[in-house]
Amino acid sequence: MPRATPIYLDHHATTPVDGRVFDAMRPYMTEKFGNPSSIDHPYGAEASSAVEHARGRIAELIGSKSSEVVFTSGATESNNMALIGTMEKYEDRGDHLVTCTTEHKAVLDVARHLEERGKRVTYVPVNDRGEINMRDLGAAITDSTVMISIMAANNEVGTIADVEGIGRIAHERDVIFHTDAAQAVGHIPIDVGRMNVDLMSFSAHKMYGPKGIGGLYVRGIKPRIRPDPIIRGGGHERNMRSGTLNVPGIVGFGRAAEIAMSEMAGEEKRFRGWSGMITDAFAKAGGRVNGPLKNRLAHNISAYFPGIESKAIINMVSDRIAISAGSACTTQTVEPSHVLLAMGLGEERSHQSIRIGLGRYNTEGDIRAAIEAIITAVNRLKSISVCPDS
Ligand SMILES: Cc1ncc(COP(=O)(O)O)c(C=O)c1O
Repeated sequence: MPRATPIYLDHHATTPVDGRVFDAMRPYMTEKFGNPSSIDHPYGAEASSAVEHARGRIAELIGSKSSEVVFTSGATESNNMALIGTMEKYEDRGDHLVTCTTEHKAVLDVARHLEERGKRVTYVPVNDRGEINMRDLGAAITDSTVMISIMAANNEVGTIADVEGIGRIAHERDVIFHTDAAQAVGHIPIDVGRMNVDLMSFSAHKMYGPKGIGGLYVRGIKPRIRPDPIIRGGGHERNMRSGTLNVPGIVGFGRAAEIAMSEMAGEEKRFRGWSGMITDAFAKAGGRVNGPLKNRLAHNISAYFPGIESKAIINMVSDRIAISAGSACTTQTVEPSHVLLAMGLGEERSHQSIRIGLGRYNTEGDIRAAIEAIITAVNRLKSISVCPDS
């Protein structure tokens, strides 16, 4: 349970570890410390069986087989492995990757790296709701396209992609489909089989698990996909990702997946109600929503108040609520959000946008307090910015 103040409303950046997850992890840091690769004695065997139990729970959450889940250090590593490992492994098929302009930097920076290594990348544009057009996607695919990488849900504006439709196009054209689902897994139902996904990145700390553990789903059959490893040394994870497994992290990830399975639907409903309360209150104060009204993560609100800098709002409310101006990875720079720019919303609107991410431990009281704090700040800033001569 996070501390009471400031009220945490930045759950796209990270989530607190659920107490039930922490309880499950604790013994694997102390008395059950075995190495799951060292199974000649009970220490290793018990760690190995805990890892496999967790793998099974994660597989259930995403609709895969256990053997198709590869543990990594997080979605950044999974994205690196999916993109670099696949483009290298299947270079006889071509040199072309298709992705989109609103991806997380953990995809975009890898795509740029591949371009520097001589690969070709097409960045499919999005509309003002952050959605790609399926015709643009189809037109981007050429005979030398090896893979498509399109995120399942956007971390800034919450746009949920038509993953199933994208996967269908990819498979019709014999192209491998990867999706970065770091913001989707544990929040919306995912079924890799039904959605035609071949590779999928996800991360424990976005779904009330610990930091430093994530996964890559790697399709085992029809077609069997086998990216080259990017981390070698020991052949762990069926030769796809070497290194001693992070057993406490994996156990926590498994428990977080189990909890998400049973609580996700109820949470979604609760968050939908609260995000409606927030956007209605913002609208009355002159605020507007970025991104889609439908097909959006229930716990995401991205909004702006015309004429008011988001940093000024955030600083003014920071002792009461923790919200952000964009993605956490770019908060050290003053650059406008590449996502909002790609949506055609312009630099000014980008600098005026705030992102709220609701979470498991928030209460209706938190939501009311956040609305009150933000709107008070907006009104104060409006009164300061009014020029007496104008
Ligand atoms: C869409 C998306 N992809 C990838 C990442 C990186 O995940 P991790 O912190 O597990 O490396 C994030 C985290 O902000 C994200 O939101």
